[in-house]
Amino acid sequence: MANTVSFEKTFSIGGDLTVNRLGYGAMRITGEGIWGPPKNHNEAIRVLKRAVELGVNFIDTADSYGPNISEELIAEALHPYSADLVIGTKGGLLRTGPNQWPINAHPDHLKEALEGSLKRLKLERIDLYQLHRIDPAVPAEETFAFLQKAQLEGKIKHIGLSEVGVEDIIKAQEFFEVVSVQNMYSVDNRKWEDVLQFCKNHNIAFIPWYPLSGGNMRAMEVLQRIADAKQATVQQIALSWLLHRANNILLIPGTSSVAHLEENLKATSIELTENDMQELDSIPQV
Ligand SMILES: NC(=O)c1ccc[n+]([C@@H]2O[C@H](COP(=O)([O-])OP(=O)(O)OC[C@H]3O[C@@H](n4cnc5c(N)ncnc54)[C@H](OP(=O)(O)O)[C@@H]3O)[C@@H](O)[C@H]2O)c1
Repeated sequence: MANTVSFEKTFSIGGDLTVNRLGYGAMRITGEGIWGPPKNHNEAIRVLKRAVELGVNFIDTADSYGPNISEELIAEALHPYSADLVIGTKGGLLRTGPNQWPINAHPDHLKEALEGSLKRLKLERIDLYQLHRIDPAVPAEETFAFLQKAQLEGKIKHIGLSEVGVEDIIKAQEFFEVVSVQNMYSVDNRKWEDVLQFCKNHNIAFIPWYPLSGGNMRAMEVLQRIADAKQATVQQIALSWLLHRANNILLIPGTSSVAHLEENLKATSIELTENDMQELDSIPQV
């Protein structure tokens, strides 16, 4: 029997919020272009409830998903929240229309964004508040100082960043402890490998967005071959590779359907061997 690669089932965000490594990304429960309400409100509510039923205790969202819709649906489906549920939300983007995401990480905007998220999520404090983007038009120090202040005021427990390089993380750490980094990453796109390794070495959660390449994965031949051998789907293999890749990776695959949610969550029971990992590791990158 070939050697299987072991992996941890949980990770502690900031050392004190222990979550299952396979969570849920709540961007896809909105309308077309991540704009407006979902086509099927009841299915969106069912997805959220089923996720928690199946053991998900880390949900990723943002004020900009909808905007506001994703956070409102989370509260509608799950409030009052179970004690172990960690909701990570984000601020720093505006929404001006479908598929439009202008950046605004000015403290004035972030103040409003944070207050809005607290209200919509019906929380006194956000467990994980992630800066959606560093704003090239605002000195990063001003944005970081705002987040530091909000944390000191007790509105945020832990702070994370998104789409950042190692230098950005180091700079932010002068203001607060960076507990998570959310960057685009998947089996066929490892552009941020250096950031993953930095996070791994510093026990920072690395949260890949687009873990399924937004539903359009490349290198389907390799994924399909391994999936067939394990009676799994290519999506499950892509998620399983991430679970095996590094124990500080937290997964937030997005879906609008209960069927896909259930399929994705089964990725935790797939075992990959060293040979499988080598084959997947050698998938060509975009
Ligand atoms: N920080 C950032 O800048 C940033 C940017 C984008 C996203 N995010 C976060 O990351 C999360 C994940 O990213 P994502 O949702 O964009 O992409 P993703 O998880 O890579 O892919 C989601 C897409 O794949 C499809 N899908 C999911 N499971 C499937 C399955 N088992 N079989 C076939 N298709 C499947 C979904 O369609 P169905 O709805 O039909 O299942 C959806 O279109 C988001 O939900 C959001 O929370 C963060």
